Amino acid sequence: MKKDTVEALLAWYNKNKRILPWRKNNNPYYIWVSEIMLQQTRIEAVKGYFERFIKELPDIYHLSQVEDDKLMKLWEGLGYYNRARNLKKAANQIMVEFDGSMPGCYDQLITLAGIGPYTAGAIASICYNEPVPAVDGNVLRVFMRLDGSYEDISSPKVKKNLEDRIQKIITKEMAGDFNQAVMELGETICIPNGKPVCALCPIVRRCKAYKKKIQTELPVKIPKKPRKREEKTVFLLQCAGKLAVAKRPDTGLLAGMWEFPNVESIIPENQVAEYLEHFGIIVHTIERTEKKKHIFTHKEWDMLGYYVICEEIPKQTVFQWVSREQIEKEFAVPTAMAQFLKSK
Ligand code: ADE
Repeated sequence: MKKDTVEALLAWYNKNKRILPWRKNNNPYYIWVSEIMLQQTRIEAVKGYFERFIKELPDIYHLSQVEDDKLMKLWEGLGYYNRARNLKKAANQIMVEFDGSMPGCYDQLITLAGIGPYTAGAIASICYNEPVPAVDGNVLRVFMRLDGSYEDISSPKVKKNLEDRIQKIITKEMAGDFNQAVMELGETICIPNGKPVCALCPIVRRCKAYKKKIQTELPVKIPKKPRKREEKTVFLLQCAGKLAVAKRPDTGLLAGMWEFPNVESIIPENQVAEYLEHFGIIVHTIERTEKKKHIFTHKEWDMLGYYVICEEIPKQTVFQWVSREQIEKEFAVPTAMAQFLKSK
């Protein structure tokens, strides 16, 4: 990227940057939490989560001390829950290894749980103006279009090359603004899925993709192998205003979160009552839901649900029976399962 392109981009950013809750004062803790939340989630969705999170856990010390159930409840709905578990783990590392204050450079930041090259680069450049790249999907897209390049952005080599190039451009005078300007351009103008708003782009004259009219073909991302499909039957067992829930194991997918009783196969409606007898449940009525789907990084759940009114709560039960209000207030239910709560 040429010097005058960098200047045009920075001038655009200074005029157009969005007001965001974590941008008020480059507090490294705020920037860290926001960057982690933004990794798989749109800015508009993050705002509310961020404000609530900071209100409950205003600093690194409070994050390091938070109970897992409360942490999961604060993260409920954002998905990719390991991000939250790693935040707490890293907060404990900071308490022990860095005296409770956020490490002040890239090389230390990257030693923390859940912080990779992108996040370390984002925090170091935004908070300390350290001249290091922060390459995420937005930055890759902007550069591939500028270059008119058909390289595959899922290739680590392509990412590494771009990091090396940015390392040569970036300076300590503008590191934070430069990285954020490219991201912001990627989020608001050079947007994905074929519809960039080139008419508003401050560097359109330098864009090879625009010149060749190939901007909607870029970037190229070669899909990884398909996700594993798992079928599930989910039971919303209801009795005397209470619903049955169970806690997932402490490790693995959705560790420690709460779910509705379920089984890894599809059970036809005429076999539900018999199946539930194994859990001491006597069925009063059954109602089938529509099929629901949830997509994780490496697998997909295809779910069929049954709302079941039970005769009584069994004396011996492997589930916890709790009211809907209690679930909503206190139990972290992953989005995959919470879909069943909404439609009833
Ligand atoms: N997306 C993720 N992090 C961002 C940042 N710091 N500025 C603009 N967009 C972002």
